[in-house]
Amino acid sequence: MFHGMLEEVLAGLRKNPKSLPSKYFYDRRGFKLFEEICELDEYYLTRAELAIMEVHGSEMAKAVGEQSLLIELGIGTGEKTRLLLSHLSAPVGYVPIDVSQDMLNDLADSLGREFRNLVVIPVCADWMGNFELPMVWDSAVKRVVYFPGSTIGNVDRLELVNFLRKIRELCGRGGGFLVGMDLKKDRATLEAAYNDSRGITAEFNLNILHHINKALNADFNLDNFRHYAPYNEEDRRIEMVLISTCDQEVHIGKETIRLDDGEPILTEISCKYDLREIGEMARGLFQIKNIWTDVDKRFSVQYLVAV
Ligand code: AVI
Repeated sequence: MFHGMLEEVLAGLRKNPKSLPSKYFYDRRGFKLFEEICELDEYYLTRAELAIMEVHGSEMAKAVGEQSLLIELGIGTGEKTRLLLSHLSAPVGYVPIDVSQDMLNDLADSLGREFRNLVVIPVCADWMGNFELPMVWDSAVKRVVYFPGSTIGNVDRLELVNFLRKIRELCGRGGGFLVGMDLKKDRATLEAAYNDSRGITAEFNLNILHHINKALNADFNLDNFRHYAPYNEEDRRIEMVLISTCDQEVHIGKETIRLDDGEPILTEISCKYDLREIGEMARGLFQIKNIWTDVDKRFSVQYLVAV
């Protein structure tokens, strides 16, 4: 079980409307389902970002610079990280930060085998919370925080400036922030990406309940929920929701949670950005140095320098 999971899950379910922290999608099964999502025809995000990295990887490495310490928030399939690392010149170390110790160990093992001279120091922590880097890296010319995959979209816009402040602290003056973000586009494309025809995203969404059942000995009946992921035009974000399909009770720890027929539990938000939006929100903290996009302008990777 993750530290503090019971309290966080209950806090979300006591709220009105109910919600769950999206980091709890990711047990081993959740990671596997997410990998499958990344391969889906409708989920263009991963392909678009990889295409950008393939074309502009060496420019990105140039922006990151020589002898940098690369800090990655959250770990995905590792594909983009590998691409970036393959272009980097003599990084002093790579620090992946994630809540899942299992996934961190797997990644550290495989990167250690592929990049023999790379020092990999995994940190098991919630990148949204407070954490410390394991040691002072005096030899690093600068620190660069890498945040691919549009995971920044999973941070609420209202918390974004605070989040950027934290990143700025982490990388220090002159440090950098290399971030991938999904761009605003038509509703049909966005909704198809989060409501795929094979139902993998629905399974991924329901897996949060499966994970909570396992980790907290809860009794969610997955048959009593359905996946729903509309685009909220006003807030410019996809909202992943699980809808209760009957009046029901769920037991977690010592608590009983009541859900009405039709009641939603918000499991994730996925904000979509304009090309210049992050730069504007980061004013006074970072300055945009590079903006890269794919040919269809669906996705963007940007390099921001801490001021
Ligand atoms: C991890 N994150 C960027 C994904 C997204 O698109 O917001 C998670 C996801 N949720 C449903 N499909 C993919």
